[in-house]
Amino acid sequence: MKGIILAGGSGTRLHPITRAVSKQLLPIYDKPMIYYPLSTLMLAGLREILLITTPHDQDAFRRLLGDGSQLGIQITYVVQDQPNGLAEALILGEEFLAGDRCALILGDNLFYGPGLGTHLETNTFIDGALIFAYQVSDPSHYGVVEFDDTGQVLSIEEKPPKPKSSYAVPGIYFYDSKASELARALTPSSRGELEITALNNAYLERGQLRVEVLSRATTWLDTGTHESLYEAGGLIRTLQHRTGLRIGDVEQIGSDQGWVTPSDATEKTESSASGSA
Ligand code: TTP
Repeated sequence: MKGIILAGGSGTRLHPITRAVSKQLLPIYDKPMIYYPLSTLMLAGLREILLITTPHDQDAFRRLLGDGSQLGIQITYVVQDQPNGLAEALILGEEFLAGDRCALILGDNLFYGPGLGTHLETNTFIDGALIFAYQVSDPSHYGVVEFDDTGQVLSIEEKPPKPKSSYAVPGIYFYDSKASELARALTPSSRGELEITALNNAYLERGQLRVEVLSRATTWLDTGTHESLYEAGGLIRTLQHRTGLRIGDVEQIGSDQGWVTPSDATEKTESSASGSA
């Protein structure tokens, strides 16, 4: 399985700063936002990552992450010319995926919870699609899952004004090798985007969508507004201070996974920093 991180978009809810800087490079406490979704993929054991950015932000991401070798991973870059929607990631990533399964994660989503990496790792041999459902107080901002009494999924609706449940779909999705083909068959929604909900519904119609309710012990934050960005920074600060553990520290994860030695990571990070100065 390969990983895709979507780090394009227009970030209008974070204007004015996102007129100048990619949202996914803004700090969440002591690290750039992109570290958190990248760390989620690394904890799931994924080492081949495609990073999708806007045309003008790609250089900044390259300066930050390079080819990933300092973390023991391989990062490939691709540009999304326009924010045409989340499902376009599967089309832009088709060549990179070369028929493999993938985990797609949004560059502004932060996941934290006990055993999350190991849990996600068990899904890397997926047949069909696996998405998650997470109880939130404001479901109408997200894709919303409707379940019947037996827990079967009846529908997924994108940003419904009247949500049929309080279960939102977080920004991490696992797909088998059919995802690119199904994404290419989608038509843009009324807001002109290839919706990830439409792709998930395509799997649902084929009877190949699994929805797993994420335990409340898992924290899921979407950090795309001033309020949520501020809250996420505070949360990471509090958890790190309280436990002494680091969250989203991609260098540490690369070495914990045994992909690099700690000294490798420092040397490569320092030499790539001085190389780009
Ligand atoms: P959103 O938060 O839905 O959109 P946005 O980042 O453009 O922000 P805003 O709504 O404030 O204008 O996007 C979720 C994530 O997906 C985010 O990390 C950006 C990324 N994204 C893309 O890479 N390409 C896209 O076409 C879209 C819509 C989003």
